[in-house]
Amino acid sequence: MEKLKLENISKSFGKKIVLDDINLSVFDKEFFCITGRLGAGKTTLLRIIAGLETPSSGNVYLDGEVINYVDPKDRRISMFFENLALYPNKTGFENIAFPLRIKKLPEDEIKKRVYEISELLNIKYLLDRLPRTFSGGEAQRVALARALVRDAKIYLLDEPLSNIDALLRIQARAEFRRLQRYLGKTFIYTTHDPIEALAVGDRVCVMREGKVLQIDKPNLLYDKPKDRYVAAFVGNPPMNFITCVLCQEDGTLYLSHDKFRLDVTKFKEAISDLIDREVDVGIRPEYIEVSKGRIEKGIGTKVLSTEYLGDKLILYLGLNDLIIRAIGNPELTYSMDEEVWIRFSSEKIHILDKKTEKVLV
Ligand SMILES: Nc1ncnc2c1ncn2[C@@H]1O[C@H](COP(=O)(O)OP(=O)(O)OP(=O)(O)O)[C@@H](O)[C@H]1O
Ligand SMILES: [Mg+2]
Repeated sequence: MEKLKLENISKSFGKKIVLDDINLSVFDKEFFCITGRLGAGKTTLLRIIAGLETPSSGNVYLDGEVINYVDPKDRRISMFFENLALYPNKTGFENIAFPLRIKKLPEDEIKKRVYEISELLNIKYLLDRLPRTFSGGEAQRVALARALVRDAKIYLLDEPLSNIDALLRIQARAEFRRLQRYLGKTFIYTTHDPIEALAVGDRVCVMREGKVLQIDKPNLLYDKPKDRYVAAFVGNPPMNFITCVLCQEDGTLYLSHDKFRLDVTKFKEAISDLIDREVDVGIRPEYIEVSKGRIEKGIGTKVLSTEYLGDKLILYLGLNDLIIRAIGNPELTYSMDEEVWIRFSSEKIHILDKKTEKVLV
């Protein structure tokens, strides 16, 4: 069931277009994640949903009804902000209880709800303390509890893990998913980290400069990106792009590069418009086979540098003027300028139209 719908939402501040014709739907009980670089428009989009910002055009629907003119406090949408401040003179308990006190809920109901959410977020030990005694991560959890304790139709979470250090963040992702499932509520969550987005979201929306580029399940976003930006943004280390010419010879289609040739006849239908033109070939580092010895159909490259990550080793390999990222064997040593051979199969490549940047294969 559709919980929230945005229809042709645009927003400008003066001459600057910050959101450009956004259309999307979020389903009931879905964990919907919005990702994009700094300034992509994530926070502005959430503020429009919450009613803190008015769209320049377009409609916001909640449960099938237009809510453009509904006051934020009557929308039953709860929002957690990136840099949410706690009330310094109130205890953890009173900070969390605050939205319930405004609603004038009975005292025992307030207690019950505050304890329940605190249990869930493991912050019971903070309830009697004042915010100045909290660490950054603890303060963030209390602020999160305050956003989640309200009974809302949708919870908007703007970069909730931004103040938490890298290791805890990985643990917190899993907790977020568990929390959302437990509460059985609709979450819209933003992050500038695409890895985090894929880890938490049921579906992920990639934004760029106020536009939605793609909305898909995490695995589809990874395996079937629709354009070059999404292909490069999702995945770490990022996808490689190698410029080739698409050639045809006796009914065979192949990608031609001065170091290799790859038969792509089976993709003929999708790419035949691009014959004799330059195309970009996208290949993820993990799909490149690397060998220290010469291999059949291998492409000779030179080791430029390496990055050891414990479970894997990232190799930066020179191919003409290009730097190719590939995954090496962490148990081996690769020396600078050493020659290594790489190989990839046409099964794992993407072919992109260089002009439109659309992924065709
Ligand atoms: N009140 C405002 N007046 C003018 N410009 C604004 C205003 N609010 C946001 N912007 C601009 O809109 C663009 C999008 O901002 P927004 O905060 O929505 O991006 P974001 O994706 O949340 O970025 P970040 O990852 O940095 O949080 C930015 O270029 C920002 O400068
Ligand atoms: Mg933001």
